[in-house]
Amino acid sequence: MSSDDLKRTAAKAALEEVLPKLGRDGIIGIGTGSTANCFIDLLAEHRGVFDAAVASSDASAARLRQHGIAVIDLNAAASIAVYIDGADEVDPQRRLIKGGGGALTREKICAASADEFICIVDHTKVVDVLGTFAVPVEVIPMARGLVGRAIVAAGGTPVLREDFVTDNGNLILDVYGLKLTDPARMETDLNNVVGTVCNGIFAAQAADRVIVAGPEGTRWLT
Ligand code: 5RP
Repeated sequence: MSSDDLKRTAAKAALEEVLPKLGRDGIIGIGTGSTANCFIDLLAEHRGVFDAAVASSDASAARLRQHGIAVIDLNAAASIAVYIDGADEVDPQRRLIKGGGGALTREKICAASADEFICIVDHTKVVDVLGTFAVPVEVIPMARGLVGRAIVAAGGTPVLREDFVTDNGNLILDVYGLKLTDPARMETDLNNVVGTVCNGIFAAQAADRVIVAGPEGTRWLT
């Protein structure tokens, strides 16, 4: 099975799980990336059974609209039944590194706003300890140097993501080499550096459930 097939398998399992829970006035939260795109494409067939979506990026909002799915602003959503998104790394406690697509801030906001966050990944994303994948940190442009120096002091190596501006108008530092033995602590420490908008460690609020698609089938981390 190709990586794309596995992403579609995880997305299909998520769809089967969430569709029965979405009433006609239900709002679904949608993430960003190739796995989230698989979910969007499958969701299109069912656009009549729920009300609208909230998207974690302009790219996902555009894809949803191309499929005829209404997209609303998060502030207009009374509640979000479930948020579906991929991840770059997942550990056994369902803590994540996200932000490979640069949408980490809106992703964290959507996840925090939803009643449930279901993460969908292929098996290659599952690790024992987070941290091989660089941790993306969204920074206010004028604070790039300040935040970068604080990250070096914390033991990381920040690399500016070239030719990239987030949907919020900010920059991304991809941080290599951080020791993530206590991911929640590192998430807080990075957030406390002035000029940081958000970082891609999802430990304070891990995913509620993770669907992992592999060659032997689909399993859940709960
Ligand atoms: C985007 C993300 C994505 O969920 C993450 O990068 C995984 O992407 P993909 O599904 O393409 O492997 O956090 O900011």
